[in-house]
Amino acid sequence: MKFTQYCLLVLICLSALTQAQPPNISYTYEYPYVDGIPFFRYKERREMLRNSHGEKSLIISLSADIRNRQNDVNHPYRQSSNFLYLTGMPYPQSALILAPGGIMHEGKVSKEFLFINPRNSSKEAWEGALMGIEEAKMLGIETILPYSDLKTFVMEHLKGKDTIYFTGLPTANIPIPLAEKPFSVEQNLKEELHKSFPDLYIKTSLQKLIAMREIKDADEIRLMKKAIDISLEGHVSAMKQAKAGITEYELEAMMEYTFKKEGAEDIGYSSIMGAGYNACILHYNSNRKATLNGDLVLADCGAEYQNYTADITRTFPVNGTFSPDQKTLYDIVLEAADSAILESKIGNPFRAPHNAARKVILKRLQALGIIEKEDQLKWYFMHGTSHYLGLDVHDPGTGGTLKDGSIITVEPGIYIPPGSPCDKRWWNIGIRIEDDILITQQGPLNLSEALPRTTDGIEKLMKK
Ligand code: GLY
Ligand code: MN
Ligand code: MN
Repeated sequence: MKFTQYCLLVLICLSALTQAQPPNISYTYEYPYVDGIPFFRYKERREMLRNSHGEKSLIISLSADIRNRQNDVNHPYRQSSNFLYLTGMPYPQSALILAPGGIMHEGKVSKEFLFINPRNSSKEAWEGALMGIEEAKMLGIETILPYSDLKTFVMEHLKGKDTIYFTGLPTANIPIPLAEKPFSVEQNLKEELHKSFPDLYIKTSLQKLIAMREIKDADEIRLMKKAIDISLEGHVSAMKQAKAGITEYELEAMMEYTFKKEGAEDIGYSSIMGAGYNACILHYNSNRKATLNGDLVLADCGAEYQNYTADITRTFPVNGTFSPDQKTLYDIVLEAADSAILESKIGNPFRAPHNAARKVILKRLQALGIIEKEDQLKWYFMHGTSHYLGLDVHDPGTGGTLKDGSIITVEPGIYIPPGSPCDKRWWNIGIRIEDDILITQQGPLNLSEALPRTTDGIEKLMKK
């Protein structure tokens, strides 16, 4: 090929490439949450968090990383809950800096800075319109800067600061070793900061943020109720369609189909659909087995709506009728759940519901001869009864006394796998009843109560 021919070919290829992107295509950006948390709430949260930190500190909150699965394929993106809680910003490669003492930047003092990627038309052909700097103004954050400026900005404004806080860890109470931390961007930035500012305190424990997330405001409660109501429909649908021989994955599909049909964007955690002995495995989620006539099915499934999740468990007989032994153990779990819910009151220690549930199960299992001594209880009831619930299924919380506006789960259970040192008649029975409880001035409010909880109620629902 002559040189001129070669140049012509290159030109033709180049023009084909540029023409692949028609000029002036403009995608319209739409914020994904129409009836979500109003933006002024995020502002209030940022202000509250800033006000509880010293003037010489900086708070850095980073978006979750994109997790690559293969070549051009990523795992579904889920924003970091702490970052979302403070910004309402659902996209990756963004960061928030809160400066309690204010920072002078480009002639203006600001106390809050959002860093995001500007819009990029060639990227939008693949991903649609994402929030750019102009669109991000809707979030109401004082100053918005390009994400590429983040590192320089932090380095520049650290002089004179004594402490830098990261919001990356899900809770301050879980001592995750640094190497295992899931937030790699944050980890890199931290290491760099350590080298450049050896005297600076770098902390990840944000007690104030944890305490704030523990109490849900009216809008959060509204979204949680929606996530719970959608989940209830999913549970009803799975229970109604159950019959002996159906597979765990079919039941899971019915559950999750209903979640999505009702507007949930996602599941809040991997659905647990365990039949027979699988019901005895606490976080079982392979869900591959075919059910057998006589199996109990433990369905622990919750929809995520606008990033808030429900966490609900019901246990039902796949053939629609509890056996007498299944009913005996079921009623113990139900009694334990009811006594735990009664203890879910303002001012009670966080462990009060668990202690109440434990007491019931201990007494009843001893009476049935399934256990003799108290320390054997953990063979069949090996987990706590409650955790906080919100943006995360295991939401952060102080673990102190129960507070007005908090939402906790109450989820006692009895699990007797085959081979257990008790009469064989109890083997293969796994039961958990899990409800989502709002702590209020008027006492505990069971937000998932509408889903039948008694053996009679479940049997009636399944016969319809
Ligand atoms: N679904 C997880 C849990 O109940 O904690
Ligand atoms: Mn739970
Ligand atoms: Mn659960």
